[in-house]
Amino acid sequence: MSVKRCPLCGRVLDKLNVDGREIIIRGLCPEDRDNLLRFYEKLRDETIYTRFFSVIRYFNPYVERLVSSTGILAIVAEDAKSGEIVGVAELVLDRDGVAEGGIIVLESMQGKGIGSAMALALKRVAREYGVKMVYGYILADNIKAYRLVKKLGGKPKSYYSSMIYVEVPLD
Ligand SMILES: CC(C)(COP(=O)(O)OP(=O)(O)OC[C@H]1O[C@@H](n2cnc3c(N)ncnc32)[C@H](O)[C@@H]1OP(=O)(O)O)[C@@H](O)C(=O)NCCC(=O)NCCS
Repeated sequence: MSVKRCPLCGRVLDKLNVDGREIIIRGLCPEDRDNLLRFYEKLRDETIYTRFFSVIRYFNPYVERLVSSTGILAIVAEDAKSGEIVGVAELVLDRDGVAEGGIIVLESMQGKGIGSAMALALKRVAREYGVKMVYGYILADNIKAYRLVKKLGGKPKSYYSSMIYVEVPLD
């Protein structure tokens, strides 16, 4: 499955108020490249590990792929006033109707509903692109991610030593 680059660019999907800050959930644009790099570079190693299962130090190739691939639906959570990116969620389109999901929120902004808002927005929009099922992996002790998966209507499918494979149907 392939789409144009940054297919959701600039599209506002949701808005929420977090501690008095207006957070906009919108499609990722190529112009977000530098801002995205700043976002990933300020995350703690532990957070990066929870998302990627390894500690990445050099995010340029990853960010480049996010903004230039024709197989990714990506969105960001952005502080409306400062323009700071505080969260990113993406679906990497796989086999027909199937995509791998990933999501990450800045530590200081976690637990305030941003992850849920991004995931629900991406779920809504993914249907437009023919996605019928999203899968992903989460660490077994990642309670926030596990609760998010349940909230999206997903289920754990397989358990590995420290990892859970989950699936979220989109119909
Ligand atoms: C997982 C993650 C994306 C969730 O985003 P978030 O903005 O922190 O999550 P939300 O505030 O929307 O909350 C999601 C759920 O976790 C629960 N939750 C939030 N903080 C919690 C805490 N400290 N302890 C337990 N549950 C918590 C919420 O109540 C909510 O569940 P509910 O709707 O059933 O009540 C975010 O924590 C993160 O970036 N973690 C690191 C990267 C990662 O784990 N990615 C997932 C693997 S791809």
